[in-house]
Amino acid sequence: MNPSESRVASIPAGELGRRMLSAKAEQFTESVIREMTRLALKHGAVNLSQGFPDFAAPAEVKEAARQAIADDINQYAITWGAKPLRDAIVEKFARTQGIRVDPEREITICCGSTEAMMSTMMAIINPGDEIVVFEPFYENYGPDAILSGATPRFVKLRPPDWTYDERELAAAFGPRTKAIILNTPNNPTGKVFTRAEFEFIRDLCVRWNAFCITDEIYEHILYDGAEHISMATIDGMRERTIVINGMSKTYSVTGWRVGWAIAPPEPTAAIRKVHDFLTVGAAAPLQQAGAIALKSPQSYYDKLAGSYLEKRERLLKILTAAGFTVFKPRGAYYIMTDISRFADPDPIRFSAETKDVSFAKFLVEEIGVACVPGSSFYNNARDGASQVRFTFCKKESTLAAAEERFAKLHA
Ligand SMILES: Cc1ncc(COP(=O)(O)O)c(C=O)c1O
Repeated sequence: MNPSESRVASIPAGELGRRMLSAKAEQFTESVIREMTRLALKHGAVNLSQGFPDFAAPAEVKEAARQAIADDINQYAITWGAKPLRDAIVEKFARTQGIRVDPEREITICCGSTEAMMSTMMAIINPGDEIVVFEPFYENYGPDAILSGATPRFVKLRPPDWTYDERELAAAFGPRTKAIILNTPNNPTGKVFTRAEFEFIRDLCVRWNAFCITDEIYEHILYDGAEHISMATIDGMRERTIVINGMSKTYSVTGWRVGWAIAPPEPTAAIRKVHDFLTVGAAAPLQQAGAIALKSPQSYYDKLAGSYLEKRERLLKILTAAGFTVFKPRGAYYIMTDISRFADPDPIRFSAETKDVSFAKFLVEEIGVACVPGSSFYNNARDGASQVRFTFCKKESTLAAAEERFAKLHA
């Protein structure tokens, strides 16, 4: 019944001593990255904000999805994931990382790595637990912490090479540390963590009996000889590492929403329960196509990295010519930039504290290019006020259009 039709008046929530909406949900805003995509559409801007490819996905992978639907794989898959995809993950992880996991007890297929991360956090966090997060960080980790009830402890990665201070990292760990979140290759910085860095982090995880949750979604997008290392392969870490990965970036299918968590049996049992009641399962026919995609030959991954290398060079050149200070990424498909060299075109709209937001707004509205304000990657917005991020997972015509529009900015 429409409440206005009732003759009974509601007692205001305040009088009942409660709020109508979740205090957790009130602690974060909608995704700035996804908002930038909406603004790009509204202003007809070239969208270099959100990290989704605007080019075609591999033909064989799309055909596999079509075939799966034709074959009537249209009902719920097993909640923790279709067996062919779990088997394909086992085979690929063994081939690329040299570790054989148990498909029956160590893999959970989720609705994207986004859900895999959320289910993992909800499966391991208790009130009072802390998680260590490097910043700048992929913006989802903030709400992930709030929704799961973890208290984040942030540790800075500093430009130009995005290294961390070992003493600062060690000080962030303590008796309450449940996990560290590691994202390598990293969004937004393009940092690829080195073996020495992994070993330093390993020692802290072991000392404080903490998990390492490692988001490896850009594992195949590497440049300049950078090597992807999974924390699970580091001595002493197999039993405390939870690997998060997915199809989105490697096969250019961000809308398919297929991801997974690889974890030892105990955390996997908890992750599977959370996942089951959150979403039941990822799209069954797309999981089937995933099993085919993961069997792609090495040449596929080489070609992917080669094509992104060209795009990286192209966008580095465009941004440098337009006046940005660029930080060259070693992995993933983003370029973090410093905007300090741009004078405030409108001092009323631009203040030092929020320059990234006003600049991004100006860029999308007046220049016609969408980027992501740096503050969306930091806990304290001020820390990102002189940075904005661009993505280059776009076809040449999109990058060329951005180049053309930037001519106006330069002028
Ligand atoms: C570091 C990182 N993790 C996870 C995701 C989301 O992945 P998925 O599409 O599998 O949910 C993204 C997307 O941009 C990302 O950059």
